[in-house]
This record gives sequence, C-alpha cells and structure tokens, in this order.
Amino acid sequence: MDKIIIRGGRRLSGSIPVSGAKNSALTLLPCALLTEEPLTLRNLPRLADVDGFQHLLNQFGVSTSIAGTRPEDFGRVMTLQATRLTSTTAPYELVRKMRASILVLGPLLGRAGEATVSLPGGCAIGNRPIDLHLKALEAFGAQIELAAGYVRAVAPDGGLPGGTYTFPVVSVGATENALMAAVLAKGTCRLHNAAREPEIVDLCNLLVAMGGQIEGIGTSDLTIHGVNRLHGATYQVMPDRIEAGSYACAAAITGGEVELRGARMNEMDATVAALREAGVFVEDRPSGLFVAAQGPLRPVTLSTAPYPGFATDMQAQLMALLTRAEGTSVLTETIFENRYMHVPELTRMGARIETKGRTAIVHGVAGLNGAEVMATDLRASMSLVIAGLAAEGVTTVHRLYHLDRGYERLEEKFALLGADIERVGSD
Ligand code: EPZ
Repeated sequence: MDKIIIRGGRRLSGSIPVSGAKNSALTLLPCALLTEEPLTLRNLPRLADVDGFQHLLNQFGVSTSIAGTRPEDFGRVMTLQATRLTSTTAPYELVRKMRASILVLGPLLGRAGEATVSLPGGCAIGNRPIDLHLKALEAFGAQIELAAGYVRAVAPDGGLPGGTYTFPVVSVGATENALMAAVLAKGTCRLHNAAREPEIVDLCNLLVAMGGQIEGIGTSDLTIHGVNRLHGATYQVMPDRIEAGSYACAAAITGGEVELRGARMNEMDATVAALREAGVFVEDRPSGLFVAAQGPLRPVTLSTAPYPGFATDMQAQLMALLTRAEGTSVLTETIFENRYMHVPELTRMGARIETKGRTAIVHGVAGLNGAEVMATDLRASMSLVIAGLAAEGVTTVHRLYHLDRGYERLEEKFALLGADIERVGSD
C-alpha cells in the first residue's frame, strides 16, 4: 500500500488548478442512466471513486469512453451512453467498495421503473443510514422492500405519480436520489428542507440541461415537474470547494500563499469566513481564490452544518490549521457521529486536542513534530498531510488509498507549491 512522506517546514507558494468536485461528479455520473443519448462530462476529476463509479455504470450497460487527455493534465472528459439498460441491480460487491453507489437508486427507478441496490452498510465516520432516501421515494409513489441486504424499489405502471416529502434532517444524498427519480416522474414532486449544497445546484443544472423541469434550485424547497424523457448533454463539473479549502489550510499553516485557480469564493463562504477569522488573508480573483498567511493564527469557534453552514468535510483540515493558533479553538461536529479519528494521529504529531462527545477543544501549540501516522478516512488523512507540511521533521502517512479517493494527484499539486513530498509504494 502506498504511503506519503513529507519533510515539513517549507513555506508553500505558487498557483495550482482546482480539480472538478468529487461530490458533484458522483451524482452527475449516474445521470447517464436517465437518457439513452450520450452525456459528456468535462473537468471530471481523476479519482479512485470516479473510476469505481464508471465501473459500476458499465455493469448496467452504460458505455463509457474517455477523450484523449495529456498525462500531465488534471481532470478528463468522459462520454457515457445508456442506450439500453442491461441490468437494474447494483451488487454488494461494488456497493461495499463505494457507498456513493446508492446514487444509482433514483435514476434507475426513474428510467426503468425498478431498481435493486445493495444497502451500503456502515462507514468510518458514522452509521450513515439511507432511510431518508427511501422515504422520499416512497412519498413519490415508489414501493420499497428491504430483503437480504438489498433495497428493491418499484414504480407503479407508467411511472412515479409524484408527491411531497419534507426531510426531517438535511441529507445531500437523499436529495440527489429524489431529484434523479423525480425528473422522469409522471407527476410533480416537491421536496422541503432539501439539501442546497453547491453540488446539488450542479446536479439540478445538469438535469435542466438534459431537459428536466426544476424550480427552486439553490433553495431548500424544490419542485420537479416530471417529463417523459431526457436528452443528452455536455456539462462541466463544478470546481471542488473542499479540495480548494484543503489547500488553503495547507498554505496558511506553512505561512505561505497560494492561488487556487478555478475556485469559486461564493460556493465556499463559510470556509472563507473561518479562514479570515483565523487571521488568513483570502481574496476573490478572476482566476480563482488567493490565500495568504498574514501573521500569527487566531483561534476559531464553530460548528459544522449543512450548506451554507461550515462543511463537515472541512472540519478535519481546519482543525489541523488551528493546532498552530495562538489560543484555544472549539469545534463541534453536528453532521457525523464519529468524525474525530484524526485527533489521536494529530496528537502523535504534538497537537493538544481534547474531545468531549461531538466537541473538540484545540489548544494551539508552538510547533508540530513529524511522525508515522495512519489515514482513517478521506478528510482525516488530508488533515494529517496539512499538519505534516508544517511539522518539524518527517511525517509518513500510511494507507494513502483514503486520499486517492478524493484528491487528484495530491503530491504533484503540493510539489508545484514547493512542498517536499513524495509518494512511495508498499508499506
Ligand atoms: C455527502 O454524503 C457527501 N458525500 C459527504 O462527503 C458529506 O460529508 C455529506 O454529504 C454531508 O455534507 C458525497 O456527496 C458522495 P448526508 P451523504 O446524507 O449524502 C444522516 C467526503 O468527505 N442521514 O447529507 O451520505 C447521516 O447519517 C464525504 O467527501 C440519515 O440519517 O450525507 C448524516 O448524519 C464524506 N438518513 C446526515 O444525515 C439518510 O437517509 C447527513 O448525511 C441519509 C442521511
């Protein structure tokens, strides 16, 4: 298994491109199931999860081709076509590797009137049930059965009649599945307290580009008027606001400055506000975002929340930054019940962090030390890389596969910014 070796203490500076967003790509790819015409996605990030999704779609009969890109390019262009679905079952073997596979449930139900999908099971950061996905589809008229570890969803003849569902808690995935089922419903579907993350807006924009009819895009109240069929489209995946926020924390903790080409400030307001509260300079530029350290870091107190609140996917990276603040920060994780697995690893690097239930108290320290650390989940592993870049000495991050799921060619991007970082094979 690959690992990353970081010789810390170098000040990062320079300019890098922000890749297409993982959490948008994983909901745009299954839209190919909604039409028999070709769907071309541009700026698709080269990530393990995207490869996994391509493989999953192939087994439904979706053909996929990748336009020639130069090896040095970031991102790629994929054309997908589901002329005829050869299966509507997502097997355990594929779903267990990538829980985002659940996002085929809505489009299969919308297009074929039936879907059988393995239940995703637990995850390192929390239980992550899918009950809200099922309740929203039931509210639209689907019959749902659970058996032998699979969910089977069937639409009445002629398609989903439609209906209204109010989410008790905001769920990104359940909103996405409901949207992808509703666009081909026979009637009108309404969602209240829906997620309104920028990735949901990206999905809505693609569905509209394919001929879907959606009102309230960007709000928590969505109305979807079902149409008979959708057509093909060519669509550009939005930039990854979490990747951009991660590199911003890395630049700031090393006392550096970076330009994040393609980052959109208006999609990462809460992250920018937290960085500024920590004393980091952040400027919106035509090319993207410019981030620079300016003097000692200040402590920050905040809670994660659904968009437009502070993203849970940025919590670990911000925590790494705040280990070097002059003072005590308090972070509260409200979305997932087990998202502090980076804390013991950061503590091995000299950080002083106490956790009490969902709250982490981060006492700033004068310096971090390099160490051997273990990646546990995607964002936790990025927080260890960020700490390693600022630490005295050598940090080795094991189980790199966690990072490869969500960060495109991470060591190359950091090397472009002047970091002393390398990927080495087999532990
Ligand atoms: C998406 O996960 C993202 N993943 C996550 O990013 C992100 O952390 C999360 O949204 C929140 O922003 C992708 O987009 C692929 P949720 P998702 O449904 O859709 C509970 C990363 O690091 N819930 O919004 O699975 C759930 O347990 C990943 O890139 C139910 O109770 O998240 C959680 O506490 C990690 N029942 C909360 O809602 C349900 O049916 C929010 O989950 C669904 C969710």
